Amino acid sequence: MLIKDAIFLITGGSSGIGKSTAKLLIGLGAKVAITGLDKNKLQKVAKEIGAFPIHANVQNDPDIQHSFDSVLSEYGKLDVLINNAGIGVHKPIEALSRADYESIFQTNVFGMAMMSQKASEIFKAQGGGTIINIGSTSGLSGYKTGAVYSASKFAVRGLTQCLQAELRPYNIRVMLVNPSEVPTAFGNEQRVERPDQDKKITSAEIAHTIVSTLSMDDRGMIPEVTVWATNPW
Ligand SMILES: NC(=O)c1ccc[n+]([C@@H]2O[C@H](COP(=O)([O-])OP(=O)(O)OC[C@H]3O[C@@H](n4cnc5c(N)ncnc54)[C@H](OP(=O)(O)O)[C@@H]3O)[C@@H](O)[C@H]2O)c1
Repeated sequence: MLIKDAIFLITGGSSGIGKSTAKLLIGLGAKVAITGLDKNKLQKVAKEIGAFPIHANVQNDPDIQHSFDSVLSEYGKLDVLINNAGIGVHKPIEALSRADYESIFQTNVFGMAMMSQKASEIFKAQGGGTIINIGSTSGLSGYKTGAVYSASKFAVRGLTQCLQAELRPYNIRVMLVNPSEVPTAFGNEQRVERPDQDKKITSAEIAHTIVSTLSMDDRGMIPEVTVWATNPW
C-alpha cells in the first residue's frame, strides 16, 4: 500500500512503540490518529508529532465507537488500524489476583477484539483495509512470572489467526507483530519512559517493521513477524 496520505488509527499512540510508529508514518506522509489514556500526555505528544489525538480507552465500548467516529469525521475513511495499546503485570502466580487477569485481558485482548470488529465493518464497506495487532514474544512461549501477560498475548495470537481466516476474503489483511523487550514506559506504574538501551531493540525498530510489512502491494500480506534483539546480553 501507499503510506503517503493513508489514514491510520493507532491505539496507545501517546507512548513507546505506538508513538514511534505514528512519528515514522507521519514523516512518510500518512495521516495518523492516536489514542491514549492520559489526556494531557496524549495532546502534548499529538502536537509534537503532528498526530490527531483521540482520548479513548479500549476497555470501553462507547470510547471505541468514539475513536472510529472521530477518525471518519476528521478524514472520511480509515486504511489501517494498529491495535497497539497494551499493559502488563509480571508477578509469581500466587501473587496474581483475578483483577490482574481481568484488567490485562480487558485491554490486551477484549479491547483489541472490539476495535477489530468495528474496523472490519468499515473495511468490509470500503472493500479492504489492514489491521496490525501488536503481540509479543511473550505470546510465543511462557516463562516465570508471565502467567497473565503471556496468556493475554497467546490470546492475541489466536485472535489474529482467526481474524486472518475470516477477513482475507474481504481484502482485509490482518498482521501480527511480536516485539521482544523494548525499553518504554511499559510495566511502569508511574508511566515513566525508559531510555533506549544499546543492545535492546528500540521502538524505532518496531515502527520500521510495521512500515516494512505495509510497504508491499496489498495483494500480499505478512501474517506474523517477530523481532528479536540480535545480542541483548
Ligand atoms: N515494551 C516492550 O518490551 C514490549 C514487548 C513486546 C510487546 N509489547 C507490546 O507493545 C505494545 C505497546 O507497548 P509499549 O512498550 O509501547 O508500552 P507503553 O510505552 O506503556 O505505551 C502504551 C500505550 O498504550 C496506552 N494505553 C494503555 N492502556 C490503554 C487503554 N486501555 N486504552 C487506550 N490506550 C491505552 C498508553 O496510554 P497512557 O500512557 O496514557 O497510559 C500508551 O499510549 C503493547 O501491546 C505491549 O504489550 C511491548
